[in-house]
Amino acid sequence: MSRLTVFKDKSRLSPRYVPKTLPHREDQIGFLFNMFNDVLKDPSRVYLRPVQVVGGVGTGKTCTTIRFADNFQRKARERKINIRHVYANLKLQGSSRTILYRYILDNAAPEIRTGSLSGDEMLYQLVKYLKNRNMYLIISLDEIEYFMRHTKEHLLYEFTRINELTPERPCGVVGLIVISRGTDYYSLLDKSELSTLGRSYVNFEPYTAKQIGDILLARSEEAFKRGVLPYEVIEFVSDVTAPPPLNGDMRYALDMLLYAGNLADNLGSDTIKLDYIRRVHGELYHEITSEDILDLPYNEKIVLLAVARALRIKRSAYVSFEDIRSACDLASEELEVKFDKLDYALQDLDDRGLVDVRSLVQIGISDIPIEELIRYLDNLMDRVRSGLNED
Ligand SMILES: Nc1ncnc2c1ncn2[C@@H]1O[C@H](COP(=O)(O)OP(=O)(O)OP(=O)(O)O)[C@@H](O)[C@H]1O
Ligand SMILES: [Mg+2]
Repeated sequence: MSRLTVFKDKSRLSPRYVPKTLPHREDQIGFLFNMFNDVLKDPSRVYLRPVQVVGGVGTGKTCTTIRFADNFQRKARERKINIRHVYANLKLQGSSRTILYRYILDNAAPEIRTGSLSGDEMLYQLVKYLKNRNMYLIISLDEIEYFMRHTKEHLLYEFTRINELTPERPCGVVGLIVISRGTDYYSLLDKSELSTLGRSYVNFEPYTAKQIGDILLARSEEAFKRGVLPYEVIEFVSDVTAPPPLNGDMRYALDMLLYAGNLADNLGSDTIKLDYIRRVHGELYHEITSEDILDLPYNEKIVLLAVARALRIKRSAYVSFEDIRSACDLASEELEVKFDKLDYALQDLDDRGLVDVRSLVQIGISDIPIEELIRYLDNLMDRVRSGLNED
């Protein structure tokens, strides 16, 4: 008799879930603990300390930073030190500096009304708040490259100035963790920002096939029922994920398991077969992940769906702005939602690397063959649609 589902807990494969232990990232977590070791002794003497977390796609930068900060806060609490971590994904909370500050204050100092405050005033209030409550803060800024490309605001410079707000003593913000895929965005920073960033640097090497296998094994024990996932399937996924073009992108490996599990359920199978992985791998295009889609503002989700549909209708590599506008009108009618600012949303999708805007008449998704593109778009549209439902 077939089981209803191969999953024990599907959410354990979601990109937002951060497992308690992260195999093969013990060194990076240890490095971060060392960096902030003195905060656990006497935080009142610690000046803002920047540290950069750098590594390729899906190397575990985000989950490692979040895991470190949770563990660190727990340690601090045991020592009666009041530390809070605010994690900001700039793709979600960073459409401008003011929006980011408001987000940080809402999370660190919810009693402060930010409505009418300017950016500078918010920082000042934050520092005062921390001091009055004997509280300390670590701020993580994820996806800094996107922020720099998208806003071109000199955010990091402002963070140097936090220390100057209280020159006679440390400001209470003890850590600034800046997460990026590489260092190309340095060219968008000015000298003082580069020096704010400092020299502390944790590198995330791509996972090897063996490491991917260990991680998948641990994650699949949480997500799948016993006996559902043969080890040879894990080995196959690891071997596909480690080399280029995927370069050890753990998110893609987990996506493959998730989609193959869904396929098993749809087909009424009680195990995940190698063949399912092959099929799913053929349909999932690695440059747009489910997390990319989850991170999109609502408007951008609709526009991405519209671009995909317009490309499908035209059956060509590029469509025009007007084609997309018509597809957007149709999509918003059908989904009974409003959308606006099409040009802003398209530019944003371009900044995120999801859509390629060459000119008003040449807008595409990538240079892959049309048949492959259409197969991919069908799949993408389902994912965008389920992304819309999650809002
Ligand atoms: N060592 C690990 N153990 C368990 N899961 C992991 C590990 N490393 C990464 N993952 C999982 O892989 C996925 C991708 O990791 P993460 O989001 O941290 O990558 P990233 O380096 O931030 O990638 P990007 O540059 O695309 O933001 C997440 O679902 C994460 O939980
Ligand atoms: Mg990340």
